[in-house]
Amino acid sequence: MLDQIEQLRKNAEAEISSVDSPAALEAYRVKYLVRKGAIAELFDKLKTVPPPEKPALGKALNELRARVQELYDARNAALTAAPTRRVDTDLTLPGRRTFMGSRHPLMQTLDEVKSIFVGMGFGIADGPELEDDYHNFEALNFPPDHPARDMQDTFFISSTALLRTHTSPVQIRLMKAQRPPIRAIMPGRVFRNEAVSARSLAGFYQVEGLFVDRGVSFAELKGTLVAFARQFYGRDIRYRFVPSFFPFTEPSAEMYITCFLCKGKGCRMCKHSGWLEVLGCGMVDPNVFRNVGIDPEIYTGYAFGMGIDRTAALRYGVDDLRLFYENDVRFLRQF
Ligand code: PHE
Repeated sequence: MLDQIEQLRKNAEAEISSVDSPAALEAYRVKYLVRKGAIAELFDKLKTVPPPEKPALGKALNELRARVQELYDARNAALTAAPTRRVDTDLTLPGRRTFMGSRHPLMQTLDEVKSIFVGMGFGIADGPELEDDYHNFEALNFPPDHPARDMQDTFFISSTALLRTHTSPVQIRLMKAQRPPIRAIMPGRVFRNEAVSARSLAGFYQVEGLFVDRGVSFAELKGTLVAFARQFYGRDIRYRFVPSFFPFTEPSAEMYITCFLCKGKGCRMCKHSGWLEVLGCGMVDPNVFRNVGIDPEIYTGYAFGMGIDRTAALRYGVDDLRLFYENDVRFLRQF
């Protein structure tokens, strides 16, 4: 019986530490301390032991009851004690602000360019970023020894697979898949093996444009691009088209608009010329038409391509293109 007393003490001592609520404390009391509890049961048993053993067992039982009562009282005091921490509310503290996410400035710019062209009747098409030499160069009338085909400028994945250097290969895919009239813009990412700096990146966005039909003229190209520029950059811009060269367009041109930072006076942004180049364009070269199986005697077309990163930078007055890709919220929150 001494063993039983000892065991009960151990159990009661172990269990008290898991008593963490008034209900658990009451269960503890019912288990050990009430008249039908575990300790009372042992007191009943005491009546049946031989008289010589009674004094020692009685003493041990009294000690057990005192010990369990002590554990119970201590726990009871701890559980019912008033909370000591005062809750102070300082109503003068500023509230906590939550920040809303927003669309990335590049995507905002891209969306706006898209919606202007969609408003003029252009559809939207896209193509793969991992291209082959045929679509990126050959079909676009690049001669085999053209410098853009050099490893210096192009990220080659293998001898024929590469990361597209412009969105123009999507023109080829579109003209192979569809018969004229074709009128679409083709937004997407392009990649060039360039040293990354404030003014140039190794990956950026372009929007390509293509219109192929009977009797499409350079005048129509100009009209479309001027209408775009007026909507995008503002009614009062001035523009000029300067002859240029691309293997896939003939004739080719670059479009410039008056620098909207200095309004044409000359500043760092426009390298003191007063003009900003905004896109390349031209009439689809007959060789390109032949490559995709469209008869250049029947159809003519124009194409253009503009860089979105620079456009966005000019628009928002961002002087370092790398900021668009760093995802620094201090930068992004401004848009
Ligand atoms: N693909 C040319 C570039 O990346 C831009 C361009 C597109 C020029 C279509 C003419 C026609 O610079």
